[in-house]
Amino acid sequence: MSTTNTLTAPAAQFAAQEYDGPALVLDGVGKRFGDAYAVRDVSFELEQGTFLTMLGPSGSGKSTTLNMIAGFLEPTTGSILLRGRDITTLLPNKRDIGMVFQNYSLFPHMSVLRNVAFPLEVRGVKRREAAAKAAAALELVELGHRAKALPKELSGGQQQRVALARAIVFEPDLLLMDEPLGALDKRLRENMQISIKNIAEQLNSTVVFVTHDQEEALVMSDQIAIYNNGGIEQYGTSQDLYENPASVFVADFIGESNILRGTMRQGALEVEGQAFPIPSRSVGRFAESERAAIVVRPEQVTLRSRHSRPDTALVKGPEVQGTVREVIYLGTAYRFYVACDLGFEIEVRVRRHLPEGQTRKGERVSVSWSPDDMSLVPSDQN
Ligand SMILES: Nc1ncnc2c1ncn2[C@@H]1O[C@H](COP(=O)(O)OP(=O)(O)OP(=O)(O)O)[C@@H](O)[C@H]1O
Ligand SMILES: [Mg+2]
Repeated sequence: MSTTNTLTAPAAQFAAQEYDGPALVLDGVGKRFGDAYAVRDVSFELEQGTFLTMLGPSGSGKSTTLNMIAGFLEPTTGSILLRGRDITTLLPNKRDIGMVFQNYSLFPHMSVLRNVAFPLEVRGVKRREAAAKAAAALELVELGHRAKALPKELSGGQQQRVALARAIVFEPDLLLMDEPLGALDKRLRENMQISIKNIAEQLNSTVVFVTHDQEEALVMSDQIAIYNNGGIEQYGTSQDLYENPASVFVADFIGESNILRGTMRQGALEVEGQAFPIPSRSVGRFAESERAAIVVRPEQVTLRSRHSRPDTALVKGPEVQGTVREVIYLGTAYRFYVACDLGFEIEVRVRRHLPEGQTRKGERVSVSWSPDDMSLVPSDQN
């Protein structure tokens, strides 16, 4: 990444002396279309320089939220503050927000440089100064050498870099991106994820990024908002969400998980007649007879087979007997599906150098996990 650009830090940064509150605040924001709320009661605060990803299934309200922040939609409820200023009903072009969409929407008849200079020109910046800043922004996305090209002469990934340069060239207070990498192939997407993250860090930009790819969210974000059905189901760092999912929905959406639903009995969760001790942090959170669910990640499960060394068997919870239904070799690990005698199935992930790698389909095994390596969440079913 070039470090010799003349693009200064965002306006937000040198204005920081006058304002040091949160960069973006959403307070009870909702949007109704007809009778139905597409977004309801969304609230969060972002510090300057934070990278937030909105992650959730199709139709959960991510783009609607983004479009309200951008000013393309007016909220039905709540308010939006950008660097302390209420922008809830302000026109989009008065907001100082850069945007990148899935389709790059570059002007086909303008050179790459003019495309990037365009937002400055509409803001009344003189042509020469605009061109110099555009050239610096192109350096930042490593496309300085293609300034004279037309958009159609560039690849999809390069066009998306141009769109990114155009979004950052006027040093916006906030950068919004709605599935900007959705149209790119996997390899290119992974490269772009890293460059977007680096550029955002270099400029200390506050970013709201939308995706429905959980891996992308984990790679890029400081904070993740998991959307479900128009609202934020859980908000936190990647690690919070992975290690302490608040619901079955979040556990299912981030990473892989085994979910066992049961009933609280005498301080343990009873599943198919077997009592499972609960994590110490969950003690007292569920009442006797309440329905709840265990979430345990495949890599937290200990598998014991006849190949296991006795000293590697760190059995800390109840051992459940079962039969290996399927073994999948993943290169760096093995994935086992164990059909347990109690009636449920458990997925286990084992690093490949362990002797469990010799365990085959049809073998009898046992699985267990430590109560503190799992989460206990409200059940989504009765
Ligand atoms: N202009 C509109 N008029 C009526 N309903 C709308 C409008 N825009 C969005 N919706 C509805 O609002 C809900 C949320 O849509 P939104 O586009 O925010 O979802 P999303 O999370 O961005 O989904 P995706 O991942 O598919 O892009 C959907 O049910 C959608 O049909
Ligand atoms: Mg969308």
